[in-house]
Amino acid sequence: MPLYYTATIRERRQFDHLVWKSLIAPEIARTARPGQFVLVRVSPSFDPLLWSVFFLAGADPHSGTVELLIDPRDSAGGWLAGYPVGTQLDVCMPVVPAVTPNLTTQTLLLAGVGPTLPALLFTARQYAARLSISLWLTGDEGYLPPPFLLPATVEVQTSTGGAAALFNLLTVSRVDNPIRWADQIIFALPPQLFGMAVEAIRTVRLRWEHGFAQVIVAGPLPCGLGICRVCQIETRHGWQRCCIEGPVFDLRDLRLPVL
Ligand code: FES
Repeated sequence: MPLYYTATIRERRQFDHLVWKSLIAPEIARTARPGQFVLVRVSPSFDPLLWSVFFLAGADPHSGTVELLIDPRDSAGGWLAGYPVGTQLDVCMPVVPAVTPNLTTQTLLLAGVGPTLPALLFTARQYAARLSISLWLTGDEGYLPPPFLLPATVEVQTSTGGAAALFNLLTVSRVDNPIRWADQIIFALPPQLFGMAVEAIRTVRLRWEHGFAQVIVAGPLPCGLGICRVCQIETRHGWQRCCIEGPVFDLRDLRLPVL
């Protein structure tokens, strides 16, 4: 069930080409978890008519703030980059599955590309005190989340190659391949890269169980509320909506020809 709030832009900073915003939104900050997203539009207005989707980059229940990282090139959400501090926003947070490290996980590998990267940032920040975390990101020069937003204990590897460069980065050395030593992996990927993720795991692991690899699906979420069904993805449990049953899925549950 979605929850509706009014939020205010508290701070705006520019990190290379990305725009970071902190929003005062205490109710959301109290319950938000990594992998969750918010729907945003300027309050009170219907411009843009459709809500824009942003994966949360962080939440601090103590200050009552949540953080967004905005790519100004994003045709759906880039408009928010230009709004100044003090702007009031309508914010809706659907209650959806979040990233969940297993109780036995000690070393967590986060790897991703695309618009759900802020969710990996949130995951790293949320669990850095408890887990050993390595974060591997690929994106365009100047559009990757800045490592200094992360705790110093998080190891960060980045590449500015294309999307497939992520798997080159991960598998460049069979011996040092982080998939080999990770207790669990959280990917942030568009559907066309799921097959590469499976292959990358198979190159170093003969067996991998349910719960070993989760995916935060990076795909279009036009309504974000379960109405349009544009975001459907085929799983072992049938067609599911990324904005309601996801956006976090177990990689083994996704229907792929190579699984
Ligand atoms: S985005 Fe419309 S149903 Fe998921």
